[in-house]
Amino acid sequence: MRIGVLTGGGDCPGLNAAIRAVVRRAESYGYEVLGFKNGWAGLLGTGDCEPLTAKSVSGILPLGGTMLGSSRTNPTKKEEHMQAVLDNLKRYDVGALIAIGGDDTLSVAARLFERGAKTVGVPKTMDNDLDLTDYTIGFNSAVTVVSDALDNLHTTASAHHRVLVVEVMGRDAGWVAVVGGLAGGADYILIPEVPTELKDVCEHLRNRRARGKDFSIIVVSEGATVLGIEAAASDGKVDAFGHIRLDRRSIGETLSREIENETGFETRVTVLGHLQRGGSPSVFDRVLATRTGVAAVDYVHEGKFGYMAALVGTKIVPVLLADAVAHNRTADLTLLETAKVFY
Ligand code: F6P
Repeated sequence: MRIGVLTGGGDCPGLNAAIRAVVRRAESYGYEVLGFKNGWAGLLGTGDCEPLTAKSVSGILPLGGTMLGSSRTNPTKKEEHMQAVLDNLKRYDVGALIAIGGDDTLSVAARLFERGAKTVGVPKTMDNDLDLTDYTIGFNSAVTVVSDALDNLHTTASAHHRVLVVEVMGRDAGWVAVVGGLAGGADYILIPEVPTELKDVCEHLRNRRARGKDFSIIVVSEGATVLGIEAAASDGKVDAFGHIRLDRRSIGETLSREIENETGFETRVTVLGHLQRGGSPSVFDRVLATRTGVAAVDYVHEGKFGYMAALVGTKIVPVLLADAVAHNRTADLTLLETAKVFY
């Protein structure tokens, strides 16, 4: 049998580790692997792909990015594109397709499965907002970057007695802000799940000064709602899955300016942006990518299609792709409560 594999959506560390796992496990069963380039784009037109072997994936385990490239191409928007994907799977004699991606990429895999394609999913997104899995590939590496950044920012904030606002990614979920902030000792965390009043943030900063804490680190999620300030308007452009560019809201910049205006405390902003998606995968992400990549091929071998290899507790288990993409998984608010102990 020939197995197809692709990586879709925003890249993150751990994708190459997952590709390597798919190829190595497939070879152990005697299957061939074909890598489709740039997400679903590689299955449009006449297809864009390359054979993957143990040799071609050798040495990629610690590398960030994805050797296959990625894109936010969405074939479900046009019936002719869905048909092209199905035709290309036939043309290249692909018996099963493993899609490595987040809710967008895997929602396409779920739709293709409904149309008779033999798809299996591997969960990846630094946002960690995919349902039915405890963690997704890329999240742990991203929060390690956030935590390291907060360590560095603490010393300069302390030296200048400033407020430092740190904007992080995460789209509509606050996982990156909460876990990164908790790990890095943030003094306030703002996330999309919990709309927060600007006056409450300022009051907290004044209280900290009164307690002798003459600097503060605030982590704000790119999608956070801060009542009392206007985030910049989006330019109205959406990607193929209908998402606006949240970096264009400049919430960190606006929050920083308003805090300085309200409190008089000198305030600076750092936007971590795509640094959170670069570099070598963490140990956790390497292991998660390897386990879910191997499991995805095992599901193919067992004829278990329409599933995603999820991490539940300490085990990798199959969950239905359609269920995994039905809802976004919001941040665990008990983690925010824990973080507040240290404000
Ligand atoms: O979906 C992952 C993510 O990193 C989001 O957190 C962020 O909003 C978005 O991608 C940025 O996308 P792009 O790299 O396409 O600008």
